[in-house]
Amino acid sequence: TPAGTFVIAIDGPSGTGKSTVSRRVATELQAGYLDTGALYRIAALAVLRAGLDPQDTDAVADLITALRLDPPTDPDHQRHHLDGEDVSEQIRGPEVTLAVTPVSANPVVRQHLFTVQRTLAMSGRMVVEGRDIGTVIAPDATVKIYLTADAAERARRRFDQNAARAVHAGAPAGQAGPGLADVERDLARRDTMDSTRSHAPLQAAPDAVVLDSSSMQLRETVRAVLTLAAERGIS
Ligand code: DC
Repeated sequence: TPAGTFVIAIDGPSGTGKSTVSRRVATELQAGYLDTGALYRIAALAVLRAGLDPQDTDAVADLITALRLDPPTDPDHQRHHLDGEDVSEQIRGPEVTLAVTPVSANPVVRQHLFTVQRTLAMSGRMVVEGRDIGTVIAPDATVKIYLTADAAERARRRFDQNAARAVHAGAPAGQAGPGLADVERDLARRDTMDSTRSHAPLQAAPDAVVLDSSSMQLRETVRAVLTLAAERGIS
């Protein structure tokens, strides 16, 4: 990485607070932020809108290879678009969350998304969040964090997040979507699929610092990442 630039790679499974921590670290450092999971979610939404079977490897590959992606990098203004339409909420919905697993396991999709991720990762001062940033996208990252937490704690956090989102969207209390057991099951499903897929499975890079956030407050986790960054000369 050229002088003055850096990459902070933050990988780990869902529900660890990874996105919030990554955004706050980027804001704190006045750096850019790339949410790579959102790119896979946009690809999955494009597949659903085209009426394709997410498991149809060749058809999905053809569609996504033609998809132009221009993700936001401002940590304080994250709006995602598909064909000019704001799909920021839709890409977090249950249909996309289900379809993103086979779409992200597609090697042609990963190859196509590699280029946009790599280009943005190398574009300056960047915090990049995902599953394979420290291993594949930026193996040369300045700082590599692998953020993890107990499965039960991750399910609880995701459940609370869903409930907050439903209240925000005007749903009556008590009708906040799937129950805790469902959330736990869905996380376990995604953990298994993400860690066992043959292309770029979720795993900590050998030189990543593993942070277990199970009993840490968000701001403690942010501080821990900033401390590691400062040790590498990033401030
Ligand atoms: O972080 P997220 O839940 O928004 O990610 C959505 C999916 O995309 C997740 O199930 C795994 C996949 N993903 C990936 O394969 N590689 C990445 N770098 C980021 C996400």
